[in-house]
Amino acid sequence: MNEVEPGKRNAAFAITWATLLLSVGYAVLRYNVIGPVGWKDFPFFILNKGLCLAAFILLTMNFALGPLNNLGASVPQSWLNARKAMGMTGFLLVMLHALMSFLLFRQATYGKFFEVDGTLTLTAGLSMLGGVSAFVVLWAYNMTFQTFLREDKAFIQFITSRRFMLFALLLGAAHLFFMGYQGWLKPAGWHGSLPPVSLVAFAFFAVGFVINLLGRE
Ligand code: HEM
Repeated sequence: MNEVEPGKRNAAFAITWATLLLSVGYAVLRYNVIGPVGWKDFPFFILNKGLCLAAFILLTMNFALGPLNNLGASVPQSWLNARKAMGMTGFLLVMLHALMSFLLFRQATYGKFFEVDGTLTLTAGLSMLGGVSAFVVLWAYNMTFQTFLREDKAFIQFITSRRFMLFALLLGAAHLFFMGYQGWLKPAGWHGSLPPVSLVAFAFFAVGFVINLLGRE
């Protein structure tokens, strides 16, 4: 039998599927099962919410597991080995989220993002600026895995530096904050008392950000 050496085990497959199932499951439970969203909206509108939550969690884990280990939390080696795959899968899911959001982005779907005259509200504009900027920064980070860029040591050092990663996380958090903070402050309106997807993702960000700040060497 082909036994994998303990040091080379990689939990990426299990972590990715568990994150996807939990995230999509949470979106379905909050919006379709308890909330008022119809099942016809599951394949795109609700799936988009589940996929971007999974993306955010995978990216946060990619950034935070190493620093968490440095802080003495003894993260299993198979989880540390999974970081690269988590980062890449997170990025691909964000791409999917961006494409799906572009198709969905209209007043009838996201009334709260628009003024009555059809232009974006200030907070929606700031949120989308955060989203597209986070996307570009994550793209740059993923480019460092391209071998032709590996020659450029200064570029790689900058992109993989602590400051750059914290910046990517911050832009993603701004995307969530401006989109969601008004709803976060009204727990009485949460379907089944379940916090909105944006707040769940923001909570992951907050924990990941502090771990990064304290534990990155
Ligand atoms: C081109 C870039 C992006 C665009 C156009 C975009 C667009 C959107 C839109 C329209 C929503 C509202 C979805 C909804 O409520 O159904 C949303 C939510 C969200 N986005 Fe993005 N986004 C982008 C990038 C990102 C990135 C880079 C991340 C992660 C790092 C991200 C994570 C999320 C999360 C977690 C939500 C919360 C969903 C919810 O509360 O329902 N997005 N985005």
